[in-house]
Amino acid sequence: MDTIECIKTRMSIRKFKPDAVPLETLIKVIDAAKWSPSYKNSQPWEVMIISGKKKQSLSRHLVELIEKNTASCPDLPEPVSWPPAIEARISALMEKRSELTGKDLNSPEVRKQSKIANFEFYGAPHGIFLFQDSSLTVWSIFDMGLFAHGLMLAAHAYGLGTVPQAFLTDYAQYVKKFLGIHELKRLVLGISIGYPDLESPANSFRTNRINTDEIVRIVE
Ligand SMILES: Cc1cc2nc3c(=O)[nH]c(=O)nc-3n(C[C@H](O)[C@H](O)[C@H](O)COP(=O)(O)O)c2cc1C
Repeated sequence: MDTIECIKTRMSIRKFKPDAVPLETLIKVIDAAKWSPSYKNSQPWEVMIISGKKKQSLSRHLVELIEKNTASCPDLPEPVSWPPAIEARISALMEKRSELTGKDLNSPEVRKQSKIANFEFYGAPHGIFLFQDSSLTVWSIFDMGLFAHGLMLAAHAYGLGTVPQAFLTDYAQYVKKFLGIHELKRLVLGISIGYPDLESPANSFRTNRINTDEIVRIVE
């Protein structure tokens, strides 16, 4: 697969086959992602891969927290509002998803079930947590975004599926405690990874993108 095809065909996968991915393949994915650029080559990323019983147990823990209506505590604050043009894109996505699933995605119960699906890693055999020292500046969060994209592209090139999940950081303090990550680390993102179940309706929807001429201005 060439680079352009890899970038354009990656998509978020929300239903995985249960089969475990060989550890060597997961390491190859991280090995590729670490070549992402970073501010002054600071490489401000730390990675934890979680699988098997430990992953199941973390899922149960997170589901229990939501069942008890525990207040979320992400290290990166959830956005509270968006500029109108961006809000419109988000609404369009939600409407499309509601239409396809026949569910009202604004209903509290549907939102809760959606969070639970996230906490169950959408059935993926592995979860990846990306974290970094919390003293790092916003540039390092930017670098982590580059790393995450590199990771997801590399996974796609190896025939794996991924989905980046802010929801997996909702209970950051609990996740860090559970995984033995120091509380002063910043949990930036969770990513489910595994073999994509491409037959599943959950993976049949492809998000669109706005036209290129809406985001670029040529000045000469
Ligand atoms: C930082 C970030 C956080 C995200 N959080 C979630 C999440 O918690 N759960 C989820 O199902 N998808 C999540 N997504 C996936 C986006 O919904 C998805 O990338 C977007 O709709 C575009 O679709 P695509 O990835 O299939 O191209 C997240 C994506 C990013 C980049």
